[in-house]
Amino acid sequence: MSASDPSQASVAGLARSKSELAELIRKRVGSRLFVNVSNREPFVHSFGPDGQVRAQAAVGGLTLALNSVMQAVGGVWVAHGSGDADRASADPEGRLRVPPDNPAYDLQRVWLTSEENDGYYNGCANQAIWPICHLAFTKPVFRTAHWEAYRKVNAKFAAAVARAVGDQDAIIFIQDYHFALLPRLIKQRCPNAVCVHFWHIPWPLPEVLAMCPWHEQILDGVLGNDVFGVHVPEYAERFLRAARTRAGCDIADSRTLLRDGRPVRVQAFPISIDFDRVSRRASGAACDEAVSELRERYRLDGKFVVLGLDRIDYTKGVIERLQAIERMLALHPEMRAKTAYIHAGAPSRTEIPAYRDLHEAVAAIEKRINAGGSGREPGPVISIQRQLGDDDVLALYRLADVCVVSSLEDGMNLVAKEFLAARNDERGHLLLSEFTGAAWELPGADCFNPLAVDDFAERLYALSGRADAGGAQRMRRLREHVRTHNIYGWIGSILQAVPGQPDAQ
Ligand code: F6P
Repeated sequence: MSASDPSQASVAGLARSKSELAELIRKRVGSRLFVNVSNREPFVHSFGPDGQVRAQAAVGGLTLALNSVMQAVGGVWVAHGSGDADRASADPEGRLRVPPDNPAYDLQRVWLTSEENDGYYNGCANQAIWPICHLAFTKPVFRTAHWEAYRKVNAKFAAAVARAVGDQDAIIFIQDYHFALLPRLIKQRCPNAVCVHFWHIPWPLPEVLAMCPWHEQILDGVLGNDVFGVHVPEYAERFLRAARTRAGCDIADSRTLLRDGRPVRVQAFPISIDFDRVSRRASGAACDEAVSELRERYRLDGKFVVLGLDRIDYTKGVIERLQAIERMLALHPEMRAKTAYIHAGAPSRTEIPAYRDLHEAVAAIEKRINAGGSGREPGPVISIQRQLGDDDVLALYRLADVCVVSSLEDGMNLVAKEFLAARNDERGHLLLSEFTGAAWELPGADCFNPLAVDDFAERLYALSGRADAGGAQRMRRLREHVRTHNIYGWIGSILQAVPGQPDAQ
């Protein structure tokens, strides 16, 4: 993805803080019911070893931000009830008030059988739609049974939304590619509801989309929206092109198409993070402690520390990153004792064969690299394969000389933005794949092609030696961009695009 002018997208800081956002939401939503829909739920209940029920808040900046929206506006969050104590902690309809310690909105859980979840989530969403949306050369799997499960689960969610809405005016905020059919289904049941959908992954090229046997239904489903949001203008352009050529829509203007005479607004809203929260926490005492602990545990003093932090997913370029490290060490053997490559990556979607294979391939290369030395010293690869707590993640950002984001295609990539926010010292270097939304958005970031492994290796080597001339200035500029284009501005921009609010322009 080539860098272009971010001002083309709606990145206006319509709300810079949580409190400004709350104010904006109250104005924009007015008396309408606000319904958020996502696959993952904000609070999962599970039984502890003592048989007691425990509520666990989902991790991640987006969930935290959506939780803030829900707390400001009330309403209903509809999501898959996935915890083993979820039924026991909800009413017979699957509803409960959350957050548990300060109830402010309803969580409506949708129950899925393991067969439904397998077909919808492991099958259609993650083996068909995910690979066609990412140009990472993993062959999609199109099974009729997966598609049937996807349709059935989307219909279940539509029924849950319709029950929550009743005859009220409502705004339905839909998250992600798990719900391509949902907007159309909601419109059939609640014609007055406004549907706003954010697609958190790339939107595919029309030619690639057409490989999916269900592309017409997917397009028709998404065209049920009033507003369809993607990360960058290129995805919006791809969507407009597919809607015109494959679904016969007319284009009204550069951001609006007409489906059966009804306007559908398609727009880029680059997602972001809560910069102030990350930056503040990265300066906290708990993070200082984690820095010392990790530095000592992994003997990082005096080392060139390269960090890769991502779910183990074939779109993240995990293999290419390892190949680049291996190549750098082969070309510059003296770097072996001086380098620590930390791969912090929680296993992900492990029921899917492509992910299991990747897991094994990653382990094999890591073992090979570490076995390459004398055997007296620990190898340069440090693999942390578990979900880390916030302070450990921030400590790793602080310890890194280089944070490498090597995605082969990525809608945005929030690791890049979190790394910048965590570096209050304005040091460290972000090496950013040019195939990320972040590369398009961040002005002057150091971008590279992760598939060109030889060049990738040389880039790493060059960064090990030089004092990064102009580095602090670059960091300052990038940090300022993320600070002023934060998650609250993201949600604010989307709400601004919602039609029909009392004071809409
Ligand atoms: O980037 C797409 C996305 O679905 C995110 O919304 C989510 O945080 C991430 O992938 C992890 O996916 P999963 O919910 O399948 O673990």
